[in-house]
Amino acid sequence: MNSLHEEYSYKHDLNPKEMLKVIFDYAAKIANERRLDNLLMLMADMGREMIVSDRCTVWLLDRSKDELYSTVAHGVPQLRIPSNAGLVGHAVQSGQAIFIEDAYTNEEYRNVLQSGAIAMDQVTGYRTKALMVIPFRNNEGEIMGAYQAVNKLTASRIFSERDLEYLTLAASYAGKSLESALLTAEIEETQKEIIFSMGEIGESRSKETGNHVKRVAEYSYILALGLGMSEEEAELLRIASPMHDIGKVAIPDSVLKKPGKLTEEEFDLMKSHTTIGYNLLKNSTRRLMKTAAIVAYQHHEKWNGRGYPNGLAGEEIHIYGRITAIADVFDALGSDRVYKKAWELDRILKLFNEEREQHFDSRVVDVFMEQLPKLLEVRDLYSDVALEQAAEAKEL
Ligand code: C2E
Ligand code: SIN
Ligand code: SIN
Ligand code: SIN
Ligand code: FE
Ligand code: FE
Repeated sequence: MNSLHEEYSYKHDLNPKEMLKVIFDYAAKIANERRLDNLLMLMADMGREMIVSDRCTVWLLDRSKDELYSTVAHGVPQLRIPSNAGLVGHAVQSGQAIFIEDAYTNEEYRNVLQSGAIAMDQVTGYRTKALMVIPFRNNEGEIMGAYQAVNKLTASRIFSERDLEYLTLAASYAGKSLESALLTAEIEETQKEIIFSMGEIGESRSKETGNHVKRVAEYSYILALGLGMSEEEAELLRIASPMHDIGKVAIPDSVLKKPGKLTEEEFDLMKSHTTIGYNLLKNSTRRLMKTAAIVAYQHHEKWNGRGYPNGLAGEEIHIYGRITAIADVFDALGSDRVYKKAWELDRILKLFNEEREQHFDSRVVDVFMEQLPKLLEVRDLYSDVALEQAAEAKEL
């Protein structure tokens, strides 16, 4: 796969039916993909299959740094180059496609090739021959990046006019999908920041620093993975779980910061932080916000049905609620609060075992026990003392 040796068994160009199949298959996948890295991989794969090339790289233009960066690529490391460097820089600057039959005999781009693809071949042992670079644009016509295809795997070993057309078509379609994915990525970044700072507000009001939410986030993530959830879902919970106490923003200081035990009325008021949090978050249609809403609403429900606000029992409680319940209590017990001192680990573990099938889902307790070394690592790493020291070191 990594070079064009003489013994290479050539492939054939796709016939129209095969081409349609490739386009339909990838169009469906691309339209449904919201993750930028996956999307770029699909784009590279689609380009490669359509024109039967050995490698296809999707380059993106980073306007803030005036650089081009290769994203996913077949058998090539990720690169960052000045936005006018190499053949790709050329294509992006001029807006014109570049078509080369043999990199080693091409005159027009000789200098660029000598310092680019050919220099690279000397390092990698790859033999670049045919090359195509096609810039692609967003809906507004701005150039967003370029497709680069290297080496044709058919007997002719050179790209055809038709390959150029196909790749141009793929590029124009991909450019549009890419724009919406880039927007989505940006929105999610913003959401993450908002969620995190909202979570911190809830906690800083109740005197615990933002460290509680950081730890609960990490514990939830570890427990989710331990339960067999996908990396993506665990990550979702990591981002959403800091919101669990967001509703505390609405609880008066006289209750929230009361040094002693709460009266019954005060505790009733305190319990409303769950429904308040839920009401703040529930109207969003975004998955992240929906997850946060579930967590805010259900993190004080108990497996035995004696929790609040709804007295849900067992699997009526969403798995996210069951996970954050343990993460939250583990952290609350291990920390000083205005109303209590931190507990020793032994005492916490004893409580967790007693609370199987009572407060907690025993499946989650099992995972908690299995993952304890990792959880304790996080606890040390994000301890209030450790984070204070880190902050001081930063200031110095
Ligand atoms: P929090 O401090 O973040 O505690 C979260 C949960 O950890 C508590 O939910 C409880 O399930 C558990 N937890 C914390 N400390 C202890 C403890 O010493 N013993 C036991 N058995 N469990 C503990 P809960 O009880 O629903 O409380 C929700 C929130 O209400 C607490 O969040 C805290 O902000 C507040 N709160 C609860 N009790 C008191 C209190 O006596 N005084 C004050 N000032 N606030 C309280
Ligand atoms: C490079 O390899 O330096 C950029 C791309 C190219 O020259 O084709
Ligand atoms: C409660 O369980 O009533 C709140 C936490 C505590 O024991 O202080
Ligand atoms: C699980 O039960 O392990 C996962 C269920 C869910 O994702 O809601
Ligand atoms: Fe809470
Ligand atoms: Fe909490």
